[in-house]
Amino acid sequence: MITVKGLQKKFKNFYALKNVDMHVKKGEIYGFIGPNGSGKTSTMNILAGLSRPAQGECTVNGLDVTKLTHPGDLKIGYLPEDPKFYPWMTAHETLDYLSGGRNTGHTGEILRWTGLLDARNRRVGGFSRGMKQRLGIGAALIRNPELLILDEPSSALDPEGRSEVLRLIKDLKGMGKTILFSTHILDDVERVCDTVGMIDAGQMMFEKPLRQLQKENTQPIFDIIPAHSVESNILNALERLTGVVSLTKSEGSLTVKVADNTVSVSVMRFLTDHEIVIESFSLRKTRLEDLFLHGVNTK
Ligand SMILES: Nc1ncnc2c1ncn2[C@@H]1O[C@H](COP(=O)(O)OP(=O)(O)OP(=O)(O)O)[C@@H](O)[C@H]1O
Ligand SMILES: [Mg+2]
Repeated sequence: MITVKGLQKKFKNFYALKNVDMHVKKGEIYGFIGPNGSGKTSTMNILAGLSRPAQGECTVNGLDVTKLTHPGDLKIGYLPEDPKFYPWMTAHETLDYLSGGRNTGHTGEILRWTGLLDARNRRVGGFSRGMKQRLGIGAALIRNPELLILDEPSSALDPEGRSEVLRLIKDLKGMGKTILFSTHILDDVERVCDTVGMIDAGQMMFEKPLRQLQKENTQPIFDIIPAHSVESNILNALERLTGVVSLTKSEGSLTVKVADNTVSVSVMRFLTDHEIVIESFSLRKTRLEDLFLHGVNTK
């Protein structure tokens, strides 16, 4: 749905985008992450046809965005970073207005879906941030686009508001839509994305399926909780097992660092052979948050 190659954007002498490549597939949720000022909004504005790149190829919905005569030709839904509405209009009037007065049935549906049905006759000026963000997502959907580009739809919200927005994003995927959204909240990416692309200082650092990213960066550490305390000579033997890098014991649990996941077979066999009853045996899963703090495997 989106193909970007060698994208560059210049503001006077400053390159906000130096080299951005991106591939968003039909039907997926793509999480576009990067720190403040890394170029997320600059990229998304170009994709939405609102700004022109200095260089690079950029195809959205089969159209070359550098050759558009009007951004509306792209037929996408776009939620800007800070959506603005007329404060004196009600939610219902806002959606009606944005649909050009054509889609009244659809407007009701969107109000219900975004949880704004009860607030439909209230003025948008009095809406909370979360309500405005949900109205913005509803507004992006008003012309029933196949592709939605959402710039930080959840970042400014509290946990409940974020969960609501993430639910809407998942719903959109369920409707067969393709969603590209930016965020700097890695937990949100982990909760809904199929693919993750990371930008830093105008350069694309990597683009990978979320599962692959997690797998490549999973620390091969097993946390084992034995039901009864284990004799130290047995623990020493476990530590000497081929593939075991180190073993530490703390408050009834064992932390076993191993060379790779396949060592689980011999560790389990060892435990069984020594008739050690296990309460829990788990491979430690690294969270994206940890990955970014301690460096990502970007190969
Ligand atoms: N209109 C503009 N004029 C000059 N510089 C700009 C303009 N828009 C963006 N920039 C610069 O380009 C860089 C990228 O900005 P951009 O808004 O794309 O980042 P971002 O990743 O969306 O950040 P944030 O997470 O804060 O929203 C920044 O250094 C910013 O100052
Ligand atoms: Mg931004």
